Amino acid sequence: MKKSLVVLTGAGISAESGLKTFRDGDGLWENHKVEDVATPEAFASNPALVLKFYNERRKAAAKANPNAAHKALAELEEYFNVHIITQNVDDLHERGGSSNVLHLHGELSKVRSERNPSQIFDIGSEAINVGDKAEDGSQLRPHIVWFGEAVPMIEPAMEVCEQADVFLVVGTSLQVYPAAGLIRYVPKGSPKYIIDKFLPESAENDKNIVFLEGAASLVLPILKKKLIEEFL
Ligand code: APR
Repeated sequence: MKKSLVVLTGAGISAESGLKTFRDGDGLWENHKVEDVATPEAFASNPALVLKFYNERRKAAAKANPNAAHKALAELEEYFNVHIITQNVDDLHERGGSSNVLHLHGELSKVRSERNPSQIFDIGSEAINVGDKAEDGSQLRPHIVWFGEAVPMIEPAMEVCEQADVFLVVGTSLQVYPAAGLIRYVPKGSPKYIIDKFLPESAENDKNIVFLEGAASLVLPILKKKLIEEFL
C-alpha cells in the first residue's frame, strides 16, 4: 500500500504563478485591507465592493498557470497516496494534475446562494454582480469562507492529517486558524517538512519540523526526489 503524504498549502505556492499572497507586500487591495473585504460584514455593507474584489481575483486566477511546485505534488501521486489540503481559492492544484484536493477556504470558480449554502454553482472566470440571483431568489455570493465564518471542511481535513505518514506544509504563514492548527493532528512520529521563503513564527520552536527555505517551485521538485528515495 502507498504511504499517505498530506500537504497543507497556502498562497505562497501560487505566488510564482503570479497570484498575490495575503501577507507579503502591503496586503492591500485598492487601499482596502484584504481582511476588510473578506468578511460577511463587508458584504452586507458594500456588496458591490466585495463582489468586485472577488471578480478580479477570479479573473486573475483563471489566467494564471500552475507552476513547478503544483506539478511536483501531482507527480508524487505515482508514489504516495497524496492528499492536498489547500487554503487557496484558486484551482491551480487541480489544473496542475492533483486529483485529491480539499479546499478549506472555498473556491473562486464557484458561487452560492446567500440564503442556502448548499446551492452552489460553477461560474468559471465569470463575474457576478449585485442583483445576480440564485434559483431561490437570493443574491449570489462567492463560495468563499470569510473571516468570522465557520470552516466546514476542517473536520475532514483533521481526519486526513491523523492518517499522515509524511506531512508537508508549503507557502503559508500559518497565521490563520483553524488551518494553522492542523499540524497538531499529524501523528508525532510522522516526518514534517515546511517549505517557505521564511520560517513561520508558530513553527520556530518545533524541533520535529524540517524547514526547507526557498521558493516552492525550486524546493518542491528537490524534496520530491528525496521523499521518493527515503520513503519507498
Ligand atoms: N515559495 C514559497 N513560499 C512563499 C513564496 C514562494 N515563492 N512566496 C511567498 N511565500 C510564503 C510567505 O513567506 C508566507 O509565509 O507564503 C506565505 C504566504 O502567507 P500568507 O500571505 O499569509 O498566505 P496564507 O498563509 O495562505 O493565508 C492564509 O489567510 O487571508 C486569509 O483566507 C486567506 O487562505 C488565506 C489565509
